[in-house]
Amino acid sequence: MKFFVDTADTQAISDLNDLGMVDGVTTNPSLILKSGRNILEVTKEICGIVDGPVSAEVVALEAEAMIAEGRKLAEIAPNITVKLPLTWDGLKACKVLSGEGKMVNVTLCFSANQALLAAKAGASFISPFIGRLDDIHLDGMELIQDIRTIYDNFDFQTEILAASIRSVNHVQDAALIGADVITAPPEVIKKLATHPLTDKGLEQFMSDWAKTGQNIL
Ligand code: E4P
Repeated sequence: MKFFVDTADTQAISDLNDLGMVDGVTTNPSLILKSGRNILEVTKEICGIVDGPVSAEVVALEAEAMIAEGRKLAEIAPNITVKLPLTWDGLKACKVLSGEGKMVNVTLCFSANQALLAAKAGASFISPFIGRLDDIHLDGMELIQDIRTIYDNFDFQTEILAASIRSVNHVQDAALIGADVITAPPEVIKKLATHPLTDKGLEQFMSDWAKTGQNIL
């Protein structure tokens, strides 16, 4: 399973990338706002840090304007993935941009039927938002399972990019279902390494080691 980092914080991306934990990056207008930086500049910097796909989102709502923005974003670097919203205009733009050989990530997906349309329009990635479905008491993970089944039934090559990941359980469940990619904030990825029994065990080992009076170096 691939790990994308859901942030425009270049320091956080760099830190995780040094550990080999970053297969790609996703950004969106809210994350660009949070970074306080210019979208073209910060995206270019991210593309220089990470080898894998870096999603940069268009902000136009009409297909022709989305296509123009997508082409401009794709000029930033070869690893740009143009991120388009799952609207009818977004699907039109997806068809055109994917036809030009650009990677496209169709975002804001909340139903299996939407995911089916994105695959037919040539999307490289579909981004179902798990956390936002959970927020309104629906089952985000059920959506990932449904999309997995549909894509496998018809051998669609579009990768399932489980997005809006808020917890370590989301990561584990998405992995068990067989999502191709998760995108999560840096804090969630770091939390995957933690377990209370690891902390407790280490504390015991350190305490016993101190009693031996020995040193390794
Ligand atoms: C995905 O591409 C989105 O940027 C992101 O996962 C949204 O997450 P949120 O619902 O926590 O804002």
